Amino acid sequence: MDKFVIDGGNRLEGVVRISGSKNASLPMMAASLLTDETCVVGNVPPLADIRTMSMILAELGVSVERTNPTTIECRPGDATAVTARYELVSRMRASFCVLGPLVAKRKKARVSLPGGCVIGLRPIDLHIKGLRSLGARVYVEHGYVVAEADRLKGAEIYLGGAFGSSVTGTANVMMAATLAEGRTVVENAACEPEIQDLAEFLNAMGARISGIGTPRLTIEGVEELGGCRYDVIPDRIEAGTFLVAGAMTRGDLRLVDARLDHLHAVVDSLRRIGVHVYREGGEVRVEAPERPSPIDVTTLPYPGFPTDLQAQFMALLSLADGISVVTEKIYPDRFMHVAELNRMAANIRKEGATTIIMGVPELSGAQVMASDLRASAALVLAGLVAKGRTEVRRVYHIDRGYEKVEEKLRAVGAKIQRLPDE
Ligand code: EPU
Repeated sequence: MDKFVIDGGNRLEGVVRISGSKNASLPMMAASLLTDETCVVGNVPPLADIRTMSMILAELGVSVERTNPTTIECRPGDATAVTARYELVSRMRASFCVLGPLVAKRKKARVSLPGGCVIGLRPIDLHIKGLRSLGARVYVEHGYVVAEADRLKGAEIYLGGAFGSSVTGTANVMMAATLAEGRTVVENAACEPEIQDLAEFLNAMGARISGIGTPRLTIEGVEELGGCRYDVIPDRIEAGTFLVAGAMTRGDLRLVDARLDHLHAVVDSLRRIGVHVYREGGEVRVEAPERPSPIDVTTLPYPGFPTDLQAQFMALLSLADGISVVTEKIYPDRFMHVAELNRMAANIRKEGATTIIMGVPELSGAQVMASDLRASAALVLAGLVAKGRTEVRRVYHIDRGYEKVEEKLRAVGAKIQRLPDE
C-alpha cells in the first residue's frame, strides 16, 4: 500500500492535461457486451477501475487490450458466460453496469450485489425496476442479482427515486433497451455528461437513442449492434479537482482538454467565492488572487453541483473567510473526509446531511487516512496548502480515479511524493 507525503505551501502554476472520463469509460466498456464486433475506445484513462472492468469483461469472454496509452479495444469472443463474480463486483460498483447488456444480449445475467460502500447506502432498486419494466425476470439468489429474458420489450419507465435520477441505473436500462423489441421511453433519466456520452457511444454502435442530455430518453430497439470507434469525453471531476487545486493554492493553472460546459455549477460557485475561471484559447484557466469568500453549496443531480466534487470543495471552503454550508442531497452519508480535515485543523461540524464550515486562515499538516476516492482527493488538496507535512495513507483509493495525480501535481509545482506505507 502506498501513501502520499506532501509538503504544503507551494503555489501551483502551469499546464495540466485532463484525462478521459472514468465514469464515462466504464459503462462503455460494459456496452461492448452488446455486440459481436470490436469496439475501439479512445481517451480511456489507465486507472485501477478500468483494469477491474477489463477483468470482469475477460471473464465474460470480451478481451480488453490497450493498443496505445489511451486507447482500448474490446474484442468479443466466447459469449456464453453470464456471471460477474462478487470478488470483482465488490471492488467497484460500476461493475453492475454489465447487468443490462448481459440480459439484453445473452438472455441471462448473474451479477453479484455490490455490498457495502463507504459513501453510504447505494441501493439498486431502480436498475431492477427498469429491467423488470422491460420484461426481464429479476430476482436475488445467493447474493447475486439474476435477470432473465428471451427478448426484452420496450416500455415506458419512470426511473426516479428518493434522491432523483440514477446515473448507472439509467446506463443499465438504456443499454438493455437498445436491443429490446420496440420503443422504450425513460422518464427522469440521468442527464450527466457521462450518460450523454454513453448514449452517443451506443448510437455509434447502431442504437437509436434520442433525447440525449434530457430527462426523457427515447430508445427505439434494434435487432443488433455493431462495433465502433469512439473517443471518451474529458473527466469533469478531475478537471473540477484541479480547478479547486488552483483556487486553494492561490495559483494559476491552465487545463488542457477540460470541458467548461460540463462544469457550470462548479464554475459558478468558484466565481462567487472570488476565483477567476475562464476560457483562454483552447484551455481553461483558473486564477485565485485572494482568500475565498464563504458560500452555501448543495449537491444535486446534473446540472447541479456534483457530489463527486463535494469533498474537494469542502477542503477549499475550510479556508474561506467566513462560514459556509455544504449540503449533500445525493449521498447523505458522504462525509468521511470531515473528521480527517478536522485533524488538519479545519473547523467543520456535521448536522445530518449538512456541514457547517467555519473558515480558518490556515490548515496544519497531519497524518490522515483516505476513505474513498473523492475524500482522498480532498485530503491531497488540503495537504497542498497545509503548513508542514501531510501524509495521506491508503492512496489506492485515489488511484481508482485519478491518473498519475502526483505527477500532474508535481509538474505544476507541488511537493508530493508517493512512498510505500508500512
Ligand atoms: N439510488 C437509488 N436507487 C438506485 C440507484 C441509486 O435510490 O437503484 C440513489 C442513490 O442511493 C443515490 C442517488 O440515487 O442517492 C444517485 O445514485 P446514482 O445511481 O446516480 O449513483 P451511481 O450510478 O451508483 C455514479 C457515479 C458516482 C457518482 C454518482 C452520483 C459511476 C461509475 N459512478 O454512481 O461516482 O457519485 O453517480 O453522481 O458513474 C465516483 O466516481 O467517485 C463516484 C462515486
